Amino acid sequence: MSWKPNKLRTISFYLLFLILPLVAYKRAEGLKDYYKDYFPIGVAVKPSDLRSDEKSLILTHFSSITAENAMKMGPIHPFEKKYFWQIADSIVQFGLDHQLKIRGHCLVWHGQTPRWLFKDSTGNQVNKEVLLSRIKDHINTVVSRYRGKIYAWDVVNEAIADDTSTYRKSQLYQIAGEEFIEQAFRYAHAADPKAVLFYNDYNTENPIKREKIYTMLKKLLAKGVPIHGVGLQAHWSVNNPSRSELEKSIELFSSLGLQIQFTELDISVFPGRQGGQLITGEKSLDKTAFTPEMEQQQLEKYKMVFEVFRKYKKHITGVTFWNLSDRYSWLDGRGRKNFPLLFDTDLQPKKAYYEVTRF
Ligand code: XIL
Repeated sequence: MSWKPNKLRTISFYLLFLILPLVAYKRAEGLKDYYKDYFPIGVAVKPSDLRSDEKSLILTHFSSITAENAMKMGPIHPFEKKYFWQIADSIVQFGLDHQLKIRGHCLVWHGQTPRWLFKDSTGNQVNKEVLLSRIKDHINTVVSRYRGKIYAWDVVNEAIADDTSTYRKSQLYQIAGEEFIEQAFRYAHAADPKAVLFYNDYNTENPIKREKIYTMLKKLLAKGVPIHGVGLQAHWSVNNPSRSELEKSIELFSSLGLQIQFTELDISVFPGRQGGQLITGEKSLDKTAFTPEMEQQQLEKYKMVFEVFRKYKKHITGVTFWNLSDRYSWLDGRGRKNFPLLFDTDLQPKKAYYEVTRF
């Protein structure tokens, strides 16, 4: 059988105009696509990220968002009878518009609290009953507003101490004792019984702090407190954590039947960082360049932690980065810039990005 010119023409037509373009048009793969069989990949956002170049970077690479600040008690509830919803609402709307998962951060934390929270109208410190009822109102109002939209909440953030004591001696603790932790989870669960509720903390790979967190969670679970997951903030550095300490934390926390999320991942290029608020041993305050040495150390750490995440995918239900690119990180400042993320100041993937997507 010989090819008729007509048939040939038809075949070339299909090849040229229909099939080839389809093959060529393979949507650029983003981080979330590489990890689609593992866990959602999230990012902490601020309002300006939801526009222009940052917006497309988010939509290409991430399947989940967290508000970096907008849902914290100070920003969202600045006065006892007044909430400020605008920014939080716009972030939630962005998530809904683009079918992203939305994590809520955070309901009770010693940081970024509003001034009114601990004081009565005469300026005196409130007692435990008043504080707990204010926390209850706050949690109920915020969680109810986003019920069915925000699928998971960091209910209590950073309640465990870094020093030898068990609980952080925050005003929350000083007024309400450890009970504020348990109650916060109960209030959140009552407001949205379907939301996945997390205890969230940093330095979770430090053996002493890990043990304290474990003991607290175990006790809460034994009491029937509705807590479903533990958030490991993952504010790490080029020299911390080790593979074995990271694995131990995942194994220990998941042995309680809790799901695990890495909620605030970044890898500081300065050694010595131990976590969200504990900044020790940083001597390189004058460095502002991302050196090849930093790049190498950082990509090795990123490679290792993502290997561990993949290995434990059964227990891990999310990995969220704390900020989008090195253009802006909460770690910038104090006289020097940091470069803790997978995208550079031009929003381009860094070498570390290729390390975590090659597997
Ligand atoms: C940080 C924000 O990124 C900053 O913009 C803000 O000034 C302070 O808080 N642990 C947490 C986060 O749980 O809420 C913190 O976010 C970083 C440490």
